[in-house]
Amino acid sequence: MKQTVLVTGGAGFIGSHYIRHLLHREEAIEVINADALTYSGNPLNLEEVEKDPRYRFVRADLTDRRQVRELFGYKIDFIVHFAAETHVDQSIKSAEPFIRSNVLGTFNLLEEARRAGVQKFVHISTDEVYGSIPAGKAGEDAPLAPSNPYSASKASSDLLCLSYFHTYHFPVVITRCTNNYGPNQYPEKLIPRFIRRLLRSEPLLLYGDGRQERDWLYVGDHCRAIEKVRKAGKCGEIYHIGAEHTVANLEVARRLCELMGKSTSLIQFVEDRPGHDFRYSLDTDKIRRELNWEPSVPFREGLEKTVNWYLSHPEWWESIERRRSERGD
Ligand SMILES: NC(=O)c1ccc[n+]([C@@H]2O[C@H](COP(=O)([O-])OP(=O)(O)OC[C@H]3O[C@@H](n4cnc5c(N)ncnc54)[C@H](O)[C@@H]3O)[C@@H](O)[C@H]2O)c1
Repeated sequence: MKQTVLVTGGAGFIGSHYIRHLLHREEAIEVINADALTYSGNPLNLEEVEKDPRYRFVRADLTDRRQVRELFGYKIDFIVHFAAETHVDQSIKSAEPFIRSNVLGTFNLLEEARRAGVQKFVHISTDEVYGSIPAGKAGEDAPLAPSNPYSASKASSDLLCLSYFHTYHFPVVITRCTNNYGPNQYPEKLIPRFIRRLLRSEPLLLYGDGRQERDWLYVGDHCRAIEKVRKAGKCGEIYHIGAEHTVANLEVARRLCELMGKSTSLIQFVEDRPGHDFRYSLDTDKIRRELNWEPSVPFREGLEKTVNWYLSHPEWWESIERRRSERGD
């Protein structure tokens, strides 16, 4: 029987990869993409599936309860909830949109989904909820210690989701993933931002001494993990997703210079950002053991694929510039 998956934030980076992943691999599936199309949502990310009869786009802002309620005019079996404000720097400049979309938006969706009855609600979260992990790896039971408004809003929405499981036996499951990279990522994030600057031979500005470490996961590996969780993850549980291979930001910058044939003298250091977490690292044993998932794209290979994609998609960059100028940015 056909199942319907409501994907929120599907016009963004990870959500658009996930929708394409679903439609390519599952025949008996219908996908509804509910997205407000904020600055980071780009319809071009889904051009490939636009005409697929199993795909439907609904422009909806999750902060508006009425718009959320209307989504449940469709019979929905699963929800995969990506929609969020996602850029830490923006959250430091102005936290309110993060509280509205990430906390209120998640609350609205939980409430309407609870009334409608769904088989499973997968809430997509982040390693940033634990704050900095100076050494070792955080387990799923590590204390939450978010250090910026973005990560605090994500931790809040995670707690709301868990409370719906405990209070209402609502079938929710949480994934917390490390830093993603790959095609279609909005160029405010480190890797596409640096690629764009290298294309223009502009300096790469690194916060502090650039030694902050992140565990980078190729976006396709993240999507495969989410599918495992949607199909077989246990409700009320949290699953970590990551490559378990941390790389310093400075090293990422150096590798990008090398891949793009640019001098590392373009790398410059600027004052660190407030509340900047030094290191994120997750223990991903649970998803590997219970759901038989493991990452398949090594960082070196994924980075090369990513650079090649950005170099060969000028129309995607143009769409970003066009949308920026339409917004007057
Ligand atoms: N990018 C990463 O490295 C990473 C890592 C771990 C977890 N995550 C989580 O994955 C999810 C997706 O991240 P991303 O990098 O694809 O983000 P993104 O910024 O590329 O996409 C976010 C999407 O959500 C939509 N959106 C924002 N507010 C909305 C609202 N109020 N109503 C409806 N739609 C709204 C935007 O239009 C956009 O299409 C987020 O929940 C994020 O916290 C991201």
